[in-house]
Amino acid sequence: MKRLILVGAALLIGVSAVAAQQDVAEQQDKLMKTIAKSFYGPLGRTVRGQSAYDQAAIDAALVQLEESVGKIATVFATNPKEDVFGAEYGSSQKIWQNKADFDAKIAPVAKAIADARGKVKDVDSLKAAYAAMNDRCGDCHETYRVKLK
Ligand code: HEC
Repeated sequence: MKRLILVGAALLIGVSAVAAQQDVAEQQDKLMKTIAKSFYGPLGRTVRGQSAYDQAAIDAALVQLEESVGKIATVFATNPKEDVFGAEYGSSQKIWQNKADFDAKIAPVAKAIADARGKVKDVDSLKAAYAAMNDRCGDCHETYRVKLK
């Protein structure tokens, strides 16, 4: 009986640990999706000519982007050791083997956003800033993002 209770308790702990990891993976995925929403949304749509240039919308998106990018190091502090179920992209285990290098990829993105703020005045200046930011996002994705499907 005592043994059965122990097994039951171990199973319960196992289940909640898995749930916690899925939760961590989901938070990380959610942050990237929030970043993508500001980036590909107002900024990307204007670059592609799908939205008219709107200075207030651009400025707001840059502020949101800066805020979300500032959370990457903390949100990716824990290794969930699993991917979000059904996700298109996952995190490479290399992140937690080289966390300092992963974190070092954040500052150049933050700098590109800071450079864009106050400088972007029209579609042309937005295009240049967008490309500069996109390249820095790519510098991290190249090493640390895995395409799952
Ligand atoms: C320091 C590293 C790092 C930086 C900087 C970074 N990302 Fe990511 N990104 C990741 C990792 C790791 C993943 C895969 C894990 C995930 O999706 O949770 C990812 C996933 C994504 C995804 C896929 C989300 C999904 O599952 O659908 C998008 C879109 C994305 N990033 C956009 C961006 C954009 C835009 C920027 C720049 C403004 C950026 N990221 C900057 C590390 C980074």
